[in-house]
Amino acid sequence: MKKLLVTGASGFLGWHVIHHAMRHWDVYGICLSHPVAISGASILRTDISRYPDLKKCFLDIMPDAVIHTAAISDPNVCEQTPAQTSAINTQASIHLAGLCAEADIPCVFTSTDLVFDGTDAPYTEDDTPCPVNHYGEQKVLAENGMKNVYPSTVICRLPLMFGDPGPVAKNYLQSLIRALSEGPQPKLFIDEYRTPISGRSAAHGLMIALQAQPPIIHLGGPTCISRYEFGCLVADVLGVPRSTIISCRQKDIEMPAKRPPDVCLDSHRANAMGFCPRPIREELECLLEVCRH
Ligand SMILES: NC(=O)c1ccc[n+]([C@@H]2O[C@H](COP(=O)([O-])OP(=O)(O)OC[C@H]3O[C@@H](n4cnc5c(N)ncnc54)[C@H](OP(=O)(O)O)[C@@H]3O)[C@@H](O)[C@H]2O)c1
Repeated sequence: MKKLLVTGASGFLGWHVIHHAMRHWDVYGICLSHPVAISGASILRTDISRYPDLKKCFLDIMPDAVIHTAAISDPNVCEQTPAQTSAINTQASIHLAGLCAEADIPCVFTSTDLVFDGTDAPYTEDDTPCPVNHYGEQKVLAENGMKNVYPSTVICRLPLMFGDPGPVAKNYLQSLIRALSEGPQPKLFIDEYRTPISGRSAAHGLMIALQAQPPIIHLGGPTCISRYEFGCLVADVLGVPRSTIISCRQKDIEMPAKRPPDVCLDSHRANAMGFCPRPIREELECLLEVCRH
């Protein structure tokens, strides 16, 4: 089997990608502060922000393809530590694209819907990025820098994701379930819209992207929904009253990073390539059935 290198193996998305890819690839994963063991995959510990270490790891493995999911993906952390997070989110991504260029292998990058300012959704791949926070800026710089050093890089813009957290990653869904069941009552925005997908669907989309030609692909879900509406669906599936959720607006909760109001993605391009995530409620029913047992 050919070798696939997945960065961010200990993260939410990387863990899903590795499990999805193992059927068809000899998978190598990179993690850093959370060493994980994934049966059937080879996991290495490397700081990708240190170029000599990244290069050595890459040359030791000599992968046939790369899916790059490692990042500091919390916008508030990026806002508070722009230099440190830029080294990972932007510079390391560009270095990795350079290594893929030298090896002439497919390179898939995980970007974000937060490259947009949220005032003109739904966004297609032809819309111009205009981020409102450091995290979005770092991803735009990575997209452009990776394209410069390796035009064959496939940029996948992902929406809010939910699902099984894997062995160590934090996940929005689990904290929401805990808050709905044990309190404190969750406060969710009625004026922040996304097109969420499950980690499994995202992993499937990234595998499609590995075979893709287009430079940019949006991997959004079928429904544009507010965080509050998403919470209501979770409450419905759990059998918890919707009144457990406190609705609020973005302006009611201060955070270091500014948040765009509506970054729903138009994903027709990916849909035409076979990316068809199920409705959110179906995904949740499947996931929460697993959670209950
Ligand atoms: N989660 C979402 O809703 C969402 C939405 C849109 C886009 N995205 C994008 O999707 C991708 C995956 O996000 P995620 O939620 O899976 O993130 P995550 O759970 O926070 O995982 C991040 C991963 O990056 C690794 N990492 C961070 N710094 C590293 C370094 N210097 N060297 C090596 N590895 C490093 C972490 O390893 P250790 O923990 O072992 O240090 C971890 O495996 C990211 O590109 C993110 O921007 C995520």
